[in-house]
Amino acid sequence: LTIIYNTAPDPLSVSIGFSIIGGLITWKLVSELGESFINVNLKGRDLAKVNEPTIPESMGVVCATVYLMCMFFFIPFPFMEWFTGKGIISRSEEFHAPTFPHHKLGEFLSAMLSLQSMTFLGFADDIFDIRWRHKLFLPAIASIPILMVYYVNFGITHIVIPIPLRFMFGRIIDLGFLYYIYMAMMAMFCTNSINILAGINGVEIGQSLVIACSIAINDFLFLNDADPAVEAHLFSLYFILPFIGVSIGLIIHNWYPSSVFVGDTYCYFAGMTFAVVGILSHFSKTVLLFFIPQIFNFIYSCPQLFRLIDCPRHRLPRFNPSTNKLEYSKVKVQKPLKKPALYVIRIFEILGLVKTKDENNSIEVNNFTLMNLLLLKFGPLHERKLAILVIIVQILASCLSFIIRYRLVHFFYEI
Ligand code: UD1
Ligand code: MG
Repeated sequence: LTIIYNTAPDPLSVSIGFSIIGGLITWKLVSELGESFINVNLKGRDLAKVNEPTIPESMGVVCATVYLMCMFFFIPFPFMEWFTGKGIISRSEEFHAPTFPHHKLGEFLSAMLSLQSMTFLGFADDIFDIRWRHKLFLPAIASIPILMVYYVNFGITHIVIPIPLRFMFGRIIDLGFLYYIYMAMMAMFCTNSINILAGINGVEIGQSLVIACSIAINDFLFLNDADPAVEAHLFSLYFILPFIGVSIGLIIHNWYPSSVFVGDTYCYFAGMTFAVVGILSHFSKTVLLFFIPQIFNFIYSCPQLFRLIDCPRHRLPRFNPSTNKLEYSKVKVQKPLKKPALYVIRIFEILGLVKTKDENNSIEVNNFTLMNLLLLKFGPLHERKLAILVIIVQILASCLSFIIRYRLVHFFYEI
């Protein structure tokens, strides 16, 4: 039996192997499938190039499918000890009947079901261009399987209140049903916030890769045997590592100048991977910390998302063919402006977040997105440079998150 045990492969090494294979397959498949995608009308115009060339869109579906296949093949490995006898022996030594960890398998399968549903719904969005107010809720629906497993396996719905607020709320509050609403909203946020920080080559995958690597680094910090959270962080790694693999396979084709677009499918698939890992591994707050640029972009976008200010179909930066650079894109708001719109513009002006131009019967203002803001502050930039800048912002935000999570946390919790 010792021999059998020794030959059972280490799941983490297997996961790394699958990630590399998944990356290679994605890289190869995406380059081969382009024409087939164009033939079935899955294509989009690259708006930031001279002749706006048409290239295949929704390649995220290839990436997500390869990912899911890798995960299917991976399922037996974390449970291998049960098949080779080690688990049974260690249990029977304690005079307990051996029981297979069905709850762990349930977690695994539900996570995959949620990811698969999200990919399916994202792909449907790419094909049918589902309306914003409808597609906002798709991730909440796709998260139901993991919420169900969370309910059965953990059911923990209380939160520990940060020390400075305890005089008001006490040490612990039980959120009950609201906790499930919070988790569903997290899925909605993670997916949609990546989708609206998009529009230039490489930026959707770039930001997702930084978030994924941050989660993986955080997981590795917990991987010593003494830590009680080691299982949860292994679970997270099993889902994040192949994600990193397939994303690298895809970004090779999506980096400037893109030969394919990733589509909403990728944004939803990426966001859902982060939500699943955060929820089922119990570190949703840490995952949200890695979303600081997305949180900023979302709050900044709110006046347009909620139509206080006009929101054009595309808010991506404007391409200037004479300089070959991107400039911030603008929107004209008809006068007279409604009071709330006026207040928003005033406040943003004070904060240095907008540039306005008064015209006869309208006010021209930049679109409220992080990328336009970066262009406003750092001047017109080449598309590749802007993508790199967004990624640098994301990396700096991750560094800040680690400082908050491991240094400043002592001011808020007794860890
Ligand atoms: C979101 C944004 C929208 C932004 C769009 C770009 C909000 C509310 N919506 O909309 O402002 O313009 O993403 O992805 O903020 N494209 C490029 N180059 C790229 C990537 C995309 O030109 O590198 C263009 C292509 O024409 C592509 C289209 O964007 O076909 C994809 O847009 P889509 O993902 O359908 O837009 P939304 O997600 O609805
Ligand atoms: Mg999109």
